[in-house]
Amino acid sequence: MLEKYGHGGDLTTAEELYGRPTQKWLDFSANMNPLGPPESVQSVLERFGEHIGRYPDPRVRGLRQKIAEKYRIPVESIWVGNGAAECIDGIVKYLRPASAAVTSPAFTEYEDALHKVDAKVTHIPLRAEQDYRLIAEDLPPAGNMDLYMIGHPNNPTGRTVEARLIKNLLEQGETVVLDEAFIDFQPEEEELTFIRIAAQHPRCFVIRSMTKFYTIPGIRLGFAVSHPDHIAALMKQQIPWSVNGLAQMIGEEVLGDDGYAERTLLWLAEEREWFRRQLQETGLICYPSETNFLLLELPARSGWTAPLAQRWLARRGILIRDASLFYGLHERCLRTAIRLREENAVLVSALRDMLASEPEGGGEE
Ligand SMILES: Cc1ncc(COP(=O)(O)O)c(C=O)c1O
Repeated sequence: MLEKYGHGGDLTTAEELYGRPTQKWLDFSANMNPLGPPESVQSVLERFGEHIGRYPDPRVRGLRQKIAEKYRIPVESIWVGNGAAECIDGIVKYLRPASAAVTSPAFTEYEDALHKVDAKVTHIPLRAEQDYRLIAEDLPPAGNMDLYMIGHPNNPTGRTVEARLIKNLLEQGETVVLDEAFIDFQPEEEELTFIRIAAQHPRCFVIRSMTKFYTIPGIRLGFAVSHPDHIAALMKQQIPWSVNGLAQMIGEEVLGDDGYAERTLLWLAEEREWFRRQLQETGLICYPSETNFLLLELPARSGWTAPLAQRWLARRGILIRDASLFYGLHERCLRTAIRLREENAVLVSALRDMLASEPEGGGEE
């Protein structure tokens, strides 16, 4: 199984299972911006040699200042982590909820982090009939949960959450962690983000990733925003120098790259529509998405399941996410990143060939 360590984009496991070198895959299983990394990253790599012999700034001051200016929030409300993954884990460890609600499906790290602190997890179902939008009727009764963890947009469904629903939760006294790891792919990010609310709020936390939009997953960089008292405690809890010097320098450099951000939004607006149409023409169901990946469903009558499809594609050098592994989804669900036109066309054509053939079992690779 390609996700044996829990995530997509695991090229080392792909090489172990299929014998194809890590650099020779067409990877739709991790949701990276195909336009990146921005060119400015190269200049940082060239300069970094001078810095490698020094400790990074333990307070990540330069990058926090840049984030504060970009989002117009106080520096004291920002905590930088070794990827959004560290922020998820750190916030859960800090809050230590006894009970928590997460959507199903959702990014698996929410539940993994909650289990580490022995929280009782309640699933809020997202339904295919609602195109996987979170609806208020499915929330647990008010006052029953210590914490809500919600993707905005959610992975693997790609749907944002209605602002009113989140505001209602906060007004009812609930504590809410919103994972906005993919929100920069939204042209309406400015209106949709809860960053400015979280920056002063005693019960709202926003998590952001820099690895997807800027295509720097190897560097690990993310941040969280909340009331300064929480941020001070989270920084105290963090392992010293968790955010290395190269990550800090790259973060400072890419944040101001407005041209890259504009190009990304233009590419995505065009490519998502084209890709969806093409995928639907193969017979797949392709759910609406407000970000850079799509949730797909194999046709029931085809006999193909997500694990079979993943194996068939992997034998041809293409990686796609088996979304049946997400709690709350079924065995015909796949998730694909949206990439460049030529690459997307390769996936469409492979899926068309696959659906025209009999499902192949094949042993576990
Ligand atoms: C919804 C979501 N949040 C957070 C993360 C973690 O991102 P990072 O690479 O910044 O740790 C991921 C990674 O796939 C994700 O899908």
